[in-house]
Amino acid sequence: MSTSKSSKMREWIALTLRNPVEAFDRVATVVDVRADKWFVKPPAYSTVSYDDVWDRLLVHFKGNGTDYAGEALEVEQAVRKRMESVKGAPINQIHSADFALARICYLAARVSRPDVVVETGVAYGVTSAFVLSALERNEKGMLHSIDLPPLGRDVDNFVGALIPDDVRHRWRLYRGVTKRVMPKLVARLDTVDMFIHDSLHTYRNIRFELDEVSPHLSAGAVVLADDIDENPAFLEWSRKTQLSYSGVVQEERKDSLLGVALLPE
Ligand SMILES: C[S@@+](CC[C@H](N)C(=O)[O-])C[C@H]1O[C@@H](n2cnc3c(N)ncnc32)[C@H](O)[C@@H]1O
Repeated sequence: MSTSKSSKMREWIALTLRNPVEAFDRVATVVDVRADKWFVKPPAYSTVSYDDVWDRLLVHFKGNGTDYAGEALEVEQAVRKRMESVKGAPINQIHSADFALARICYLAARVSRPDVVVETGVAYGVTSAFVLSALERNEKGMLHSIDLPPLGRDVDNFVGALIPDDVRHRWRLYRGVTKRVMPKLVARLDTVDMFIHDSLHTYRNIRFELDEVSPHLSAGAVVLADDIDENPAFLEWSRKTQLSYSGVVQEERKDSLLGVALLPE
């Protein structure tokens, strides 16, 4: 057995002894991913442009008159700079969100002015940094993020590493798989004004998260879901939910799709 395989094996054994529930959740995740490969077919989405969605959010929330693009660019420059400091850190950068998603998160949070934002999937915290910066500009709102980081030494210390110190007072992080954490969290929060799915992008998990948050979404809430192209979970949810807008955007750097939905006021 290679050294990296045997050290992975040791990590698994240690985790199983230390936290059997988490070990079970991680195995269930692997099974879920495999099941998608065998049983789930990608849907055919028609897409709109990034600019269309940007303009739609501005018009919908009557957000003209402020240079939101300029603000988002400032946040992006700061996040890109901070990314240098996590180069070589234990979370693979492949997990980091596309900046198209991050900027749309920023605009949605600025113009819809949410009190409660729930996000699943943090990694280094690209989207978290953008949302929190928007909430700070709004001078209101809290971001509740759920994440089970990849297995590895010191990984937990890097979750949300890109989030600036001066916006952290608006952030709460909950560790674990969304299946376990989300039901209690959304029941406690009661109302969610903005929801971002960016955790495990399997059919079952996207469906679970959207179904779980739906009864708690406020009138006029914003829903964003990353990497929706590999299964029909977002499509099915958007068909059965009363929405005032739904659009799908091709991301910039990643070959994947982002779903945007607005609930009626
Ligand atoms: C795509 S990354 C998140 C990217 C992040 N939003 C950003 O802006 O860079 C997905 C994250 O979700 C975590 N994750 C995977 N499955 C999960 C699950 N079932 N529940 C919670 N977190 C999960 C991964 O370990 C990873 O940290």
